[in-house]
Amino acid sequence: MSVDSPSSILFCLLSMWTIITPTSSHPQYSRCMLTQRMTLCNNSNLTSVPVGLPGTTEELHLNHNLIQTLQDNSLQYPSLTSLSLACNHLEKLHSNTFQHSKLLKNLNLANNNLNINYLETSHALKTLAKLKYLDLSENKLDEEMAAVLLQNLTALEYLNLSGNLLRRLDEASFRDLHQLKDLDLQRNVLFEIDNAFDSTPRLQRLNLAFNYLPCLTDFHMTQLVVLNASHNFIEWFISRQDVNDTFQIETLDLSDNKLLFFPFLPSVNRLRNLYLSHNIVSFYEHLADHVTFPNLTATVKFYNLRRNIDNITAQLWDDNLHGDISSVEILDLRGNQLLYFPQGFIQKMASLSKLRMCTNCLESLNLMSEHFSSNLYELDVSNNRLKEIRANDVTLRTLSNLTYLNLSLNNLDCLSSGLFFALPNLRSVDLSYNNMGLCLPEEAEASAGIAWNTTVSLRQLYLKGCHLARIPPLAFSGLYLTHLELSDNPGLRGQQSIKSLSTTLHHLGLGNTHVGDFDFTNFQNLKSLNISCNSLTQLPASILNLDLKQLDLRDNKLSTIPSRQANTLASKLHIVFLTGNPFNCCQTDWFRTFEATKTIHMVGQLEMECTDLFQTHSIWHSQSFLCHEENGESIFWYILLFLPVCISFAVISTILFLKPKVIHKSIKKKYLKPTSY
Ligand SMILES: *[C@@H]1O[C@H](CO)[C@@H](O)[C@H](O)[C@H]1NC(C)=O
Ligand SMILES: *[C@@H]1O[C@H](CO)[C@@H](O)[C@H](O)[C@H]1NC(C)=O
Ligand SMILES: *[C@@H]1O[C@H](CO)[C@@H](O)[C@H](O)[C@H]1NC(C)=O
Ligand SMILES: *[C@@H]1O[C@H](CO)[C@@H](O)[C@H](O)[C@H]1NC(C)=O
Ligand SMILES: *[C@@H]1O[C@H](CO)[C@@H](O)[C@H](O)[C@H]1NC(C)=O
Ligand SMILES: *[C@@H]1O[C@H](CO)[C@@H](O)[C@H](O)[C@H]1NC(C)=O
Ligand SMILES: *[C@@H]1O[C@H](CO)[C@@H](O)[C@H](O)[C@H]1NC(C)=O
Ligand SMILES: *[C@@H]1O[C@H](CO)[C@@H](O)[C@H](O)[C@H]1NC(C)=O
Ligand SMILES: *[C@@H]1O[C@H](CO)[C@@H](O)[C@H](O)[C@H]1NC(C)=O
Repeated sequence: MSVDSPSSILFCLLSMWTIITPTSSHPQYSRCMLTQRMTLCNNSNLTSVPVGLPGTTEELHLNHNLIQTLQDNSLQYPSLTSLSLACNHLEKLHSNTFQHSKLLKNLNLANNNLNINYLETSHALKTLAKLKYLDLSENKLDEEMAAVLLQNLTALEYLNLSGNLLRRLDEASFRDLHQLKDLDLQRNVLFEIDNAFDSTPRLQRLNLAFNYLPCLTDFHMTQLVVLNASHNFIEWFISRQDVNDTFQIETLDLSDNKLLFFPFLPSVNRLRNLYLSHNIVSFYEHLADHVTFPNLTATVKFYNLRRNIDNITAQLWDDNLHGDISSVEILDLRGNQLLYFPQGFIQKMASLSKLRMCTNCLESLNLMSEHFSSNLYELDVSNNRLKEIRANDVTLRTLSNLTYLNLSLNNLDCLSSGLFFALPNLRSVDLSYNNMGLCLPEEAEASAGIAWNTTVSLRQLYLKGCHLARIPPLAFSGLYLTHLELSDNPGLRGQQSIKSLSTTLHHLGLGNTHVGDFDFTNFQNLKSLNISCNSLTQLPASILNLDLKQLDLRDNKLSTIPSRQANTLASKLHIVFLTGNPFNCCQTDWFRTFEATKTIHMVGQLEMECTDLFQTHSIWHSQSFLCHEENGESIFWYILLFLPVCISFAVISTILFLKPKVIHKSIKKKYLKPTSY
């Protein structure tokens, strides 16, 4: 709020930094900023480490320079603990580079070319007995180079190898990294990992995202807390079942893979966040039926390039072997192939608070038999094939924490989805694109319809595309909705009932509802209004008094916006949508008003069109419009007057030009004809 806070920060910075100017300093580091302990020389076109910096320098930042090698004596700073050389052209660190900087703990060599002289560089790194943090990301390293560079780094705790060319890892890869806690292997080309982590017993965070791993079997890293293996080609995740220790894993990300089965989790674990979105997971309990499928193979074996075969087998059809899911709080299964939950599956997750099931194949949901946890806070079952949801008062009462519910894009009718309005803490319900209209007939009115007005906690209600024909008069009375979306219900009647929400609504969606001259006067808190696709020929005057920030007027029949209205809107709106209207090029003052107002963003400005006397233009090409002039005369009239003059002139000049030749010729022809006598 107060303008002087930025300047006071600036003042602090200035007094803290000594900016070395060329006249007052050693030319080698003239482009650096120094404090007592830190030196910043980023983006300075340096080709070598500056010499003569204060001996007390502890942190040296040389990112984005042109340094190609580090010479044996280039670092004469005995107190140096942190050195950052990201984004240079480093090819070689001479073996004695660090002879005077034995305290170095933190070394960032990201985005260089350390693949070129990695042998020599590895000799330099070996001398760093205290190194804890090493960033070698983006260096074109393959697994052999990496293994050599990492030899003897026994104190290392954090290692970043992302964006390299590692293909497979084995016991040799991280042999000396006994203290390693955090390892980033994202964005390599890994397709196999074979006992690579046996010598890193303290590893807690492992990122394997964006590789080519086909499976993770024999998972037995009990100490690991976060495993990210998203964006691979993983078909199987199987943990070793004979380990008795509690697996410390809390977050497992296997999203964007090719999992066919729910992962085979450790039998005792602390898993809280399980991300499985965008796989092809399904449950196969029905295949365990030995009568129907007598000869179905029930185990799977895994091969390994080097040792040929591993003894991992998995019982495929027994859905009881999912391991321990009792502490799962977030389960993300978006975009899979689930038809049902196995019996007791939901009940096992006693702490479940967020279940994301959008885009699966669920056909029904029975809350009475599933026994959801009373901690359930968010339930998204949108875009499934739900025809019904079964629940009763008792089950609904246990869901007293349920706050966000998304049922959109299903085949529900209002009777089964209306159940949820009995939930005491519900804040947001999305019922869009269901068949609500089928059971909201005019005669039935509120009684048989959805009793959503009993849910006092409700703030956001989405009823887009629900075939609603009519809203009962008292549908919203007693509610405090801030967000009501009724778009895509063409011909919706009973809009007057929205007025009971006039003091609370912040967003109102009435796009494609054939809204007529609805009176918005009392909606004093409205910030966002969607009245697109409504064949409006003019702006409803009542919106001018509102304090709107966002207005969607797309695909109406507006030909202009009167200047007075444009000025009013421009002073308030932040975002306006206006494409798809038949604007008149000759009345576009409003456009220039909006264009000149820096606080307003016209979405799709470049696609907006208008029509003048002859053709359609981009609305911002105002030079080419053919319109009335400022004084009221029209270019059209000038053209109309000018055209006959031009034509007459052309005719006369043609005659004059041709006369001597053509006329003479014809006369000659006529009179010089030979006569018969
Ligand atoms: C590196 O480790 C090897 C054994 O792994 C040892 O023989 C060698 O002396 C170590 N080198 C340094 C410089 O510590
Ligand atoms: C590892 O390096 C990459 C690229 O330099 C970076 O995007 C990523 O955030 C780093 N990882 C961690 C855990 O800091
Ligand atoms: C896993 O890594 C990917 C890629 O870096 C990232 O987008 C995602 O958020 C990570 N997952 C978790 C749970 O942090
Ligand atoms: C796990 O415990 C069982 C019995 O409680 C024991 O027979 C087995 O050897 C243990 N496994 C390991 C890997 O410790
Ligand atoms: C199952 O296997 C047995 C013997 O291996 C065979 O006789 C039988 O025809 C098989 N049944 C089916 C349904 O394939
Ligand atoms: C595979 O199983 C056999 C016996 O069934 C056992 O001797 C062998 O050690 C196992 N191999 C592995 C890699 O576990
Ligand atoms: C609702 O959630 C809160 C914490 O989010 C929890 O303390 C409370 O026990 C939950 N209510 C029920 C009925 O479980
Ligand atoms: C409900 O889910 C649909 C489809 O997954 C999504 O587009 C919509 O934004 C969600 N609604 C809310 C209120 O988040
Ligand atoms: C307004 O409603 C229309 C019709 O449903 C929709 O297509 C459009 O995306 C909505 N506008 C905004 C800004 O969400």
